[in-house]
Order: sequence, then structure tokens, then C-alpha cells
Amino acid sequence: MKTPTNKAGWLAAVLVILMTALPVQAQKTDDSLYRDLGGLEVLTKVVDDTLVLALADVRIKDTFKDTDMKRLAKLITEQFCELSGGPCKYSGDPMKEVHQGLALNNMQFNALVEDLQAAMDKSNIPSRTQNKLLALLAPMQRTVVTK
Ligand code: HEM
Repeated sequence: MKTPTNKAGWLAAVLVILMTALPVQAQKTDDSLYRDLGGLEVLTKVVDDTLVLALADVRIKDTFKDTDMKRLAKLITEQFCELSGGPCKYSGDPMKEVHQGLALNNMQFNALVEDLQAAMDKSNIPSRTQNKLLALLAPMQRTVVTK
């Protein structure tokens, strides 16, 4: 590459370097939500507590009657960890495939979100942190709810 000889040339070169390097750097280091949530230990507890509440929740408990709850807890924990920027890789099936046969409606979706909120309250996660996780889940409503 030709060395820039004027001010504008240097500025352009610096900008190009910043534009290519910064997004990669941001992706690598933004685990702040994962850390705010309390990392894998707290996430594991939050997901376990959510599923205990869901199994006692008359609005949705029947949905889980044929489900391996241990496997489900592991997969949702993995997913929340990855979504929040933590060092996990979701190993389950695509959301659409998994949920389409369940014919879920918005009421059931909201019920599970409420159970998740109650579980996060129990682990003393501040509401602004809760809302950041919920905001990442909200777009999935379109995929999960089919009825
Ligand atoms: C954003 C919302 C949701 C997320 C992130 C989510 C996440 C997941 C994940 C990761 C799995 C495991 C995938 C796999 O088996 O490979 C799963 C399965 C399942 N989810 Fe959801 N889910 C959501 C909403 C719901 C709702 C609202 C219900 C019911 C009220 C529900 C009921 C189920 C059931 C019953 C299974 C297990 C299906 C089976 O046994 O094969 N999910 N979900």
C-alpha cells in the first residue's frame, strides 16, 4: 500500500483501520449483559427456577408434559448464555422447528416470560438488566407463537 502523504490520506487510512477492526473487537468483548446477569452460575439457577415455576403454572404446565426438563434447562441456559454475550454455544434445534408443533399463543408466551421475570427477581437481578435479556427474547415471539 502507498504511504499517505497528506493529512486527509492519513485520516482515511485511520478510519479504514477503525471501521474494520472495531466491530470485531466489540463482538469479542461485549459480555457485559452476561456478567450483569451473574454469569453461568446465576443463569443456570434462573432457568431452573423458571422451569419449576412453569411446571406449576396452570396456564402452561401441560405444554411440558412430554418434555425432558433436564435437557430443556441445559439448552435454554446455553441459549441465554450465548445471547447475553457469554462463552457458550447453543446446541439445540432451531426455535421454529421446536415450537411449531406446540401451537403456542401469546398468552402462553407471556406466561413463560412472567415466570422468567419472577425467577430473575428471586436471584435479585435488577430490572434494567432483566429488561435487556427480555429485549433479546422479544423478537422470538414471532417464531415461537403460531396460534
Ligand atoms: C422466547 C421464548 C422462548 C425461548 C427462548 C425458548 C427456548 C427453548 C429452547 C432452547 C428449547 C429447546 C430446543 C431443543 O429441544 O432443541 C425449547 C423447547 C421447548 N419450549 Fe421453548 N422457548 C420459548 C418459548 C416457549 C413458550 C412460550 C413455551 C410454552 C409455554 C415453550 C415450550 C417449550 C417446550 C414444551 C419445549 C420442548 C419441546 C420438546 O420437548 O421437544 N417455549 N424452548
